[in-house]
Amino acid sequence: MEVVDVSLGRRSYRIHIGPGLMRDANLLNATVSARQVLIVTNDVVAPLYLDGLRAVLQDRELRTVVLPDGERHKTLDTFSRIVDELIDGNFHRDACLVALGGGVVGDVAGFAAACYQRGIDFLQMPTTLLAQVDSSVGGKTAVNHPRAKNMIGAFYQPIGVVADTDSLRTLPPRELSAGLAEVVKYGLILDLELFEWLEKNMEALLALDPAALAHAVRRSCEIKAAIVAEDEQERGRRALLNLGHTFGHALESIGRYEKWLHGEAVAIGISLAASTSRALGWLGADDCARIDALLRRARLPVAAPGIDADEMLSHMSRDKKAGREGLKLVLLERIGRGVVTPAPDDALLRGVLA
Ligand SMILES: NC(=O)c1ccc[n+]([C@@H]2O[C@H](COP(=O)([O-])OP(=O)(O)OC[C@H]3O[C@@H](n4cnc5c(N)ncnc54)[C@H](O)[C@@H]3O)[C@@H](O)[C@H]2O)c1
Repeated sequence: MEVVDVSLGRRSYRIHIGPGLMRDANLLNATVSARQVLIVTNDVVAPLYLDGLRAVLQDRELRTVVLPDGERHKTLDTFSRIVDELIDGNFHRDACLVALGGGVVGDVAGFAAACYQRGIDFLQMPTTLLAQVDSSVGGKTAVNHPRAKNMIGAFYQPIGVVADTDSLRTLPPRELSAGLAEVVKYGLILDLELFEWLEKNMEALLALDPAALAHAVRRSCEIKAAIVAEDEQERGRRALLNLGHTFGHALESIGRYEKWLHGEAVAIGISLAASTSRALGWLGADDCARIDALLRRARLPVAAPGIDADEMLSHMSRDKKAGREGLKLVLLERIGRGVVTPAPDDALLRGVLA
């Protein structure tokens, strides 16, 4: 088992990574001290993993909420269903909510844990690669508003993360690749060594080699944990984690959240951020080719033909991370070094997008 510490003073916690952890009674009993436990999952993950987890936690006062699958259910309605269940079960402030699933389950369950009686214990058990390397770590929780994604939420840290890498065996290949986009992102913004390791080990990751998966998840969590420890509430450095995301969010919105998975839109966004960095003279053509080649090997798209540059620019300027000082982008000074910088002028961006 690999362990990564997230150092946030009284809100510090551990990320446990490895095969079979969902069945590790010692680990789960040591992590969850509460007597009352509510497991929140969805109707895709429940048939695969819920019985096993319930068996491990059988000596607790246990209840379960099974949400319908999908991003469109990351809403105040499903949030209310979780709170209803907590109230129906007479759950106290010392109860624990366990999120078993991908980023959607983690985000809505985390927000419910943050709000119920002003905050109860919350354990993340991420079952997608994206959730294991990204969404389960760092304490961002949210639901969507009908007009905008992740608009209602809170920073709320879990008491721990248990990432069972065996659960990735049942993940659809497209979802695995979407998670790999975030792993490539970590290498690009901060860790040339990780990027080079990915160039050597992409096929092992796609084949779900246990040692390769454990390494990729651990290194990604270490990088995210270090950034979150420095800037928990995204006032500065944490924005580095948004490499590819401003372009990606615009694409997701243009595609009405149906055309691309989040990680796929991020992969195209990373390629666009690399091209923008090249247009500024920071990266060479060889760097851009290397980045695209790695993303392609992860079975990710690197282009979105047929999308109008002006439509992209208008969506990008509406990004919720565009603050009062205007739109910022994460660009690359070189592979392994990202920077948060004011967006270059529209003419340059339009050229890159075209
Ligand atoms: N909180 C954060 O910091 C943060 C960061 C990144 C993304 N997010 C959010 O995460 C969400 C995306 O997360 P995601 O990519 O995990 O999507 P997801 O939760 O929708 O999971 C993807 C699909 O895989 C299924 N699934 C999950 N685990 C499975 C398994 N082990 N085997 C088979 N199928 C499985 C799910 O039911 C779903 O159909 C978005 O809502 C996004 O906004 C949050």
